[in-house]
Amino acid sequence: MKKGLLALGIAALLATGCKQTGNTEEDRFIESLLSQMTLEEKIGQMNQLSFDQPLDSIKAKIRAGEIGSMLNIDPTLINEIQKTAVEESRLGIPLIIGRDIIHGYKTVLPIPLGLAASFDPQLVEAGTHMAATEAREEGITWTFAPMLDISRDARWGRIAESLGEDSYLSGELGAAMVRGFQGKQLSDNDAIAACVKHFVGYGAAEGGRDYNSTYIPEMLLRNVYLPPFQKAIEAGAATLMTSFNDNNGVPASGNDFLLRTVLRNEWNFDGFVVSDWCSMSEMIPHGFAADRKDVARISANAGVDMEMVSQTYIDHLPELVTEKKVPIETIDEAVRNILRIKYRLGLFENPYVDDVEEGMSTIYSDEHLQTARRAAVESAVLLKNNGVLPLKPGQTLAIIGPMANAPHDQLGTWSFDGDKNRTVTPLKALQSEEYKQVKYLYEAGLDYSRDTDTRNFERVKSAVRRADVALVFVGEEAILSGEAHSLSNINLIGAQSELLKAVKSTGKPVVMVVIAGRPLTIERDLPYADAILYNFHPGTMGGLAILDLLYGKENPSGKLPVTFVREVGQIPMYYNHNNTGRPAHNQIIPLKDIPLEAPQTSLGNTSFYLDSGKDPLFVFGYGLSYSTFEYTDLNLSNHEPKAGDTLTVTATIKNTSRVDGTEVAQLYVRDLVGSITRPVKELKGFQRLFIKAGESQTVTFELPISELAFYGRDLQKRVEAGQFDLWVGPNSAEGLKGSFTVTE
Ligand code: GLC
Repeated sequence: MKKGLLALGIAALLATGCKQTGNTEEDRFIESLLSQMTLEEKIGQMNQLSFDQPLDSIKAKIRAGEIGSMLNIDPTLINEIQKTAVEESRLGIPLIIGRDIIHGYKTVLPIPLGLAASFDPQLVEAGTHMAATEAREEGITWTFAPMLDISRDARWGRIAESLGEDSYLSGELGAAMVRGFQGKQLSDNDAIAACVKHFVGYGAAEGGRDYNSTYIPEMLLRNVYLPPFQKAIEAGAATLMTSFNDNNGVPASGNDFLLRTVLRNEWNFDGFVVSDWCSMSEMIPHGFAADRKDVARISANAGVDMEMVSQTYIDHLPELVTEKKVPIETIDEAVRNILRIKYRLGLFENPYVDDVEEGMSTIYSDEHLQTARRAAVESAVLLKNNGVLPLKPGQTLAIIGPMANAPHDQLGTWSFDGDKNRTVTPLKALQSEEYKQVKYLYEAGLDYSRDTDTRNFERVKSAVRRADVALVFVGEEAILSGEAHSLSNINLIGAQSELLKAVKSTGKPVVMVVIAGRPLTIERDLPYADAILYNFHPGTMGGLAILDLLYGKENPSGKLPVTFVREVGQIPMYYNHNNTGRPAHNQIIPLKDIPLEAPQTSLGNTSFYLDSGKDPLFVFGYGLSYSTFEYTDLNLSNHEPKAGDTLTVTATIKNTSRVDGTEVAQLYVRDLVGSITRPVKELKGFQRLFIKAGESQTVTFELPISELAFYGRDLQKRVEAGQFDLWVGPNSAEGLKGSFTVTE
């Protein structure tokens, strides 16, 4: 740390008179530093640049105190850049270095949608702790994660980065990610600042088209979209990022209701808010700001502390302050928030990244690779199995499909730092020590997921005929999901469905292994697969994890964090929907079976699709195992609890198979009558239970009745007395049903 600053800081700490907002050493340090800063230096802290201009010009701006943060820096340059800030700028304030470490840094985990399928907060925390350790080792102190956008639309490419459609699951796992990233304290060398994003409602983009407008009334915001963010903030998230979307006409980067009323006044958030990439200047095309100066005024007053790359603050805040259009107190508060996180990260004391001793790097360590493998195992979901799985030793396999050996694509979206040469694909896994005894024939059939060239299909069929079972690896290249990659058709792309059919035409058993970034519409493929193992881009160790699961070394335990629709036209379809006044009870009516000149109301006037019915293909929470589990003996501790009570719910789960396995037991409730219409089910608890073959375990859920509270028309949150149904089961469509009445 610069001697001058240290001396000044100590002097100021001893001196009286510097404005202090609190009486901690942290507050005193911040106030003392703030009191020495010029307006330009303050605004410089609010300016984040990307490493997309010559190093010398970046350094000149840093020296002039015009930059507070950088992102996308080549890690080998971090110390050099930091040295410029700490030793060559007037006050030596260190930079905070940010990066998109969304699901792993170098060792890549399954994409967040896959991590969500694990329903395992401990695993998720271990995975993000791994990412933080690797990143901090290279000088990165801030990640732009977790992404907690509720996603109910598989057309939206960023569903890949989300934790799925459910608010409770996203909140539990989002808080676990914050704990994993931030560790015990931010200044530790295995901790980086988390950034909860995208605040808020981004996943509700109309039409599933990225960046599109959202229309979420405050009541729905508070009941569905805000809770995961609140849980992450309560878990101590250091920063938060505003989203691109305009919700109800107001872009998030100019929304003082979100950034001040909710975030600061209600949630007491004391970290800092960063805009998304140019989300501030995009208020001009939104038609919400007249020009760049207007952007700076709106965002500063709304509560955006740091501007990501659009530089309206550095260009216009000085004059806005002079013109008293932005109070200096607003600037001071933004800078306090930023300095506070830099202080907590320990950057003033240790701004530089230490060299790592030979052989001591944590990157790609065995422990990390094991964590990634465990994560890929738990993130996979077995959707179908007619007995072909687990595979038997000695079987000859036909390894087919464009995703059998796709090292780049297997890493999924937002894997900037993952090295595809380290990816263990399914094909590579077959060449590993652990699986090298397996006999297999490999014919990709298609070169990549979009490939429509069927010329190799005969070679494929010939190989399959010489095998005992075919493993067909299909799905999506990484580029087909993630930011700005919405799709209007989410069938298996290219000629993959045709490939599957061709393989099945041989009469051999077929295992369909999907590696994709979203829930695809695979109903048309189901008849050609005797088993389906679904992997949301499983990351570095995905290949080994998939073989572990296919051979039964691991028993599938993943559950779907999103609904799988039958047709893209069913979207939005999610489990925690309202009942409507005309809930459908009927199943699909094959259109061919509808009589000619059918009378107007002969098909029933209820809420369903004539051609695809009322139900999805696979429901939220669904996932099979090699074990079978039987739920019995549901018990509620109280059938008439009061609002302040806690309900203890127990059930017995028996593993009725001969295979040890893990079941994710889920607790759902339904508020039967409310002052507003309420969802037909809401997840209120889940637990992973490892149950040995033939044995039983009791699952116990503690449900505080306060967890049943919701925001009503008056936007007040309260529990309403009345009748509730409750389920304990294996997914959102099945389970033991009970009921209770909340009394006044
Ligand atoms: C992107 C994304 C955001 C990311 C940021 C920095 O546009 O929306 O999630 O963290 O820019 O890369």
